[in-house]
Amino acid sequence: MKTKKELLSLKSVVVDFDGFKAVNKFNLNVQNGELRCLIGPNGAGKTTVMDIICGKTKSISGEVIFDKEPITNLEEHIIARKGIGRKFQIPSVFKELTVKDNLYVALNSDLGFFKNIFKFFNKNDKEKIHEIAEFVGLKDDLEKTAQFLSHGQTQWLEIALVVLKEPKLILMDEPTAGMTNYETSQTAELFNKLKKTQTLIVVEHDMGFVKEISDIISVMHQGKLLSEGKASEIEKDEKVKEAYLGHKGITNA
Ligand SMILES: Nc1ncnc2c1ncn2[C@@H]1O[C@H](COP(=O)(O)OP(=O)(O)O)[C@@H](O)[C@H]1O
Ligand SMILES: [Mg+2]
Repeated sequence: MKTKKELLSLKSVVVDFDGFKAVNKFNLNVQNGELRCLIGPNGAGKTTVMDIICGKTKSISGEVIFDKEPITNLEEHIIARKGIGRKFQIPSVFKELTVKDNLYVALNSDLGFFKNIFKFFNKNDKEKIHEIAEFVGLKDDLEKTAQFLSHGQTQWLEIALVVLKEPKLILMDEPTAGMTNYETSQTAELFNKLKKTQTLIVVEHDMGFVKEISDIISVMHQGKLLSEGKASEIEKDEKVKEAYLGHKGITNA
């Protein structure tokens, strides 16, 4: 069962790149079991926020609390071990290995000690690999070498590799970038399944996709939290409309 309690909290976080505050007193509170979408015009600071949470970028002030513990500016590998998993935009799958072997390698690298979201206990690797492959829609491609997967399939394999590590929180930066419409709708379906057991923060440009998957949307602008709410509320918000002026508009953000 998912319990509604605060899992992640960013309090007045500031990131300074040579005098430019890419993130400027930014606040974010994510509950356990939630799928939070983070949107905003280009350059708003979304990726920098993801980098802060996973420890890739350091803040100059403010605080990040994860699972009741401060994790502000800890090293990336320490934060990862505390249960924050991240899918990067650039694929990290082993191109020359099959889907099955990629999953096998991920399963046998570090882990085992995070909370078991898929009830994988008492199952052998083969079962786990089949279960996750089915979950992400790759069960007919287990023997395929990763380099022959489509772009969308490669992204789904990446997602499987993150999920297999059983993090408490998964961060995804523009998971549908470069996907076909069909792949994007498959990915929306996957996220709607994933959010039943998993807490996620998803940065996305595709507003149609965001509407299909999101509970609450946080809108960032110039390093700050501009607005927060359901898709219907966000779309009506004048501040949000204004922030997207000069960009392609919120529906094609
Ligand atoms: N390493 C960096 N050094 C200097 N400026 C950066 C760096 N990373 C990002 N920025 C700047 O910070 C702002 C926010 O970037 P980013 O977080 O990538 O935005 P978003 O993901 O919302 O498009 C942009 O103006 C970007 O140019
Ligand atoms: Mg970005």
